Amino acid sequence: MVASSRGATVVTPGTDASLEALLVAARAAAAQAYATRSGVHVGAAVLSARGRVYAGCNVENAAFPLGNCAEPSAIAAGVLAEGPGFRIAEVAVWAELRGKAFAISPCGGCRQRISELAVSPAVLVHFPWPGSELRSVTLGELLPFAFRMDGTADREPAA
Ligand code: THU
Repeated sequence: MVASSRGATVVTPGTDASLEALLVAARAAAAQAYATRSGVHVGAAVLSARGRVYAGCNVENAAFPLGNCAEPSAIAAGVLAEGPGFRIAEVAVWAELRGKAFAISPCGGCRQRISELAVSPAVLVHFPWPGSELRSVTLGELLPFAFRMDGTADREPAA
């Protein structure tokens, strides 16, 4: 469900509307990527607990390890907009190589970054994967037994 509050679009997680909004944002972000080394143009979009979508792209560097993934770019946009209370309710990642869809899932480091701010391990993460156009899994499936320092490390990974 999509509602409008004072001109800004508010999206409910786990709905067709949230998936559509996240994919549109992730694809648009991938088109902006600075992927001059790998050629893999990645876009990530996160839906905040307040119902807003934030996107980011990968930014590579001549000193290869200094490049950054799309997910932290999207997370940084969310934190900048909403401050330290920003929390992630749903995620989509999209990638293209030479103009064609490229299978990708969040890398290990990005799973940890998402986990830090996710509202729960039940948060849905969508990404293009071979065998189906799009895979949708929970964060708990992507990162079971996530490292945490907030006393919630004993939360069961969500099914
Ligand atoms: N990349 C991402 O942006 N997100 C991921 O989760 C995996 C990898 C980027 C990093 C690099 O710029 C390119 O994809 C190829 O590894």
